[in-house]
Amino acid sequence: MNIGIDKIGFYTPDQYIDMEKLAEIRGVDPAKYTIGIGQEKMAVAPLHEDAVSMGANAALAILDDEDRAKIDLVLFGTESGVDHSKSGAVWVHHLTGIQENARSFELKQACYGATAGIKMAMGHIALNPDSKALVIGADIAKYGLNTAGEPTQGAGAVAMVLSSNPRILALDNDSAALTKNISDFWRPLYSDYAIVDGKYSNESYLSFLNDVWGVYKERTQRDLKDFEAVCFHLPYTKMAKKAILSLTAEASKEDAERLMSHYQNSIIYNKQVGNVYTGSLYLSLLSLLEQAPELKKGSRIGLYSYGSGAVGEFFSGVVQPDYKNYVNKGNNEALLNTRRELTTDEYEELLEKALPKDGSNIEMNTEQIKDGKAYLAAIQDNLRKYAVK
Ligand code: HMG
Repeated sequence: MNIGIDKIGFYTPDQYIDMEKLAEIRGVDPAKYTIGIGQEKMAVAPLHEDAVSMGANAALAILDDEDRAKIDLVLFGTESGVDHSKSGAVWVHHLTGIQENARSFELKQACYGATAGIKMAMGHIALNPDSKALVIGADIAKYGLNTAGEPTQGAGAVAMVLSSNPRILALDNDSAALTKNISDFWRPLYSDYAIVDGKYSNESYLSFLNDVWGVYKERTQRDLKDFEAVCFHLPYTKMAKKAILSLTAEASKEDAERLMSHYQNSIIYNKQVGNVYTGSLYLSLLSLLEQAPELKKGSRIGLYSYGSGAVGEFFSGVVQPDYKNYVNKGNNEALLNTRRELTTDEYEELLEKALPKDGSNIEMNTEQIKDGKAYLAAIQDNLRKYAVK
């Protein structure tokens, strides 16, 4: 029985900052951000959007009544959790109208959380072939104004329905994972901003890749020739270019060229959104599936997940016949192309805005919210109130 991704939905807030304009106010050559980092636009979340509302919106984009009846596992990967106790999964379960006899919980390991969800969902479906699972990766990436990490921020969510006989990607059950206790990136409980040792994080990302790819190859006897494309966790799109150069250092010209050409398709969405942490790898996969010409039947795609701290995993899947019929290229392009560009002043003000941390109440201005979208409506008596407009 094949198990894998049957549907993929994506959501990002409807406003962004242009990277060239950000470079200008930082006194940096714009090419550093657009070529050196590889980002064109960066999504910025308004106060009424958080990991929960974005995760719900990504799910609302794909769920139908059959999914709502069959999903009995809701797994919410995030490192932007909104409560120390209650999981974002419970709110998403409610906002999307999934039947009540379900397990719902949150998973945390930096950008690796959604991959942990996928691996768990595969086991669940193997035991319960009629079940479906909803796996979400939703985050707001924030390093703060005038920091080295600033051009690698972003906001957004990816939601995936996993099932038996999936229509998009059948996942192989032969991945290689690695855990090591390192301090390349973390976010203390008191802070809205991540702390990062940028150079070390880049090195760790590549060294984990090297390690898990080696183990994966040994276990599966597969090599680069067996992959039509490889998608990577994308903290910024240039990172995957470094990863491909490292993977293909001793590869044939043909393998290196094929992977590099698919890399261009796999970064189109991420380039316009920035780092969405847990969802980044899956946004890259979606970009590849929607933006590349139809991949041949049976094409295998490699996936590299990396979550600082750190856990890395290399795994793979096979694209399913007619998968193009089950992705939503038009909707996702419209989502990206109808966003409003923020001025640099608006961006700076918004990035520093935060919800009250002293228990006081707040009511959101809902004018900007589009019909059918989930949002944070208020905090009242320390309770977050979400709604769908
Ligand atoms: P930086 O020090 O500002 O940048 O930090 P730089 O000086 O290293 O320059 C970046 C690139 O731009 C370099 O290219 C320059 O040569 C190039 P590279 O050597 O890397 O190939 N450059 C130019 N190119 C064209 N024209 C120019 C120009 N000037 C320079 N004029 C850094 C960059 C990414 C370190 C920083 O933004 C940062 O700390 N970001 C956050 C950390 C991060 O994203 N790490 C990635 C790996 S860890 C990870 O993926 C996990 C994560 O997602 C978190 C999680 O798991 O939850 C972050």
